[in-house]
Amino acid sequence: MNKKIKLNKEIIQMNINKQKEIIILDEVSSTNSIAKELAKDNLKEAIIVADYQTDGRGRLGRTFISNKETGIYLSYLIRPNILIEDCKLITPLVCVATCNAIKNSLLEEGYQLEPKIKWVNDIYINFKKVCGILVETKTNKQNQYPEYLIIGIGLNCYKQEFSDDIKNIVTTIEDETKIIVSRNKIIASIINQIDNYLINFNQKAFMQEYINRSFIIGKQVEIKETFNTYLATILNILIDGSIEIKKQDGTIKNITSGEITRMVVKNEN
Ligand code: BTN
Repeated sequence: MNKKIKLNKEIIQMNINKQKEIIILDEVSSTNSIAKELAKDNLKEAIIVADYQTDGRGRLGRTFISNKETGIYLSYLIRPNILIEDCKLITPLVCVATCNAIKNSLLEEGYQLEPKIKWVNDIYINFKKVCGILVETKTNKQNQYPEYLIIGIGLNCYKQEFSDDIKNIVTTIEDETKIIVSRNKIIASIINQIDNYLINFNQKAFMQEYINRSFIIGKQVEIKETFNTYLATILNILIDGSIEIKKQDGTIKNITSGEITRMVVKNEN
């Protein structure tokens, strides 16, 4: 019988290319909230991982279900020299980094799979959500660079019970592949991938990979903006991370991540 793999700081440390502070906790409200506290206490950089979150947070005020010992609930506190206007590209960068980490960890087990991305911050396997990303940025008006960024990643690894309202739209790596991945190795791999993309950030090579992994191009979706819900076809994802859509009346419009509150790919989620 396969055993679920426990979080282990030494294994994460061993597999990370550049040594950094790693904090592993049994239970927290939200690792992003812990990271924020540590950032306020002037910690420069850290990886915070928990086995369980009682108040896991998603984008747009949603909850991220974080069941015990079954997922990766990770926050990465960084202080990069990236212009504030470019920080919106960190979510796509992390999506690509996480897809690569999932893909490579499965390849090590002899399993081939290409995780897909649903704009803007979700990773899907077989049209079900397996991972969500929440990047929080602290800026300071006087500075052109952010004070800090908190990259929050929630990845469902092992089989678990989901409530009726989400059980048909979410999944885990184990459910889709029957493989018990090492959470420690995936965490290290995600961090290594993020660090590599950050070093070469200005080349923005991750954006083409983001577009290639996206499964919404050409699909009809329901877009809910603050005061308005409508159907549209996704024409393209642009290199600045926005999407180009065609409304039913033929109007073509560009949408940035900040404007969408809900998006449903018809028949596929
Ligand atoms: C989403 O699906 O909208 C984003 C989910 C992000 C969840 C992760 S889990 C680790 C970190 N801590 C949180 O409270 N949220 C992020």
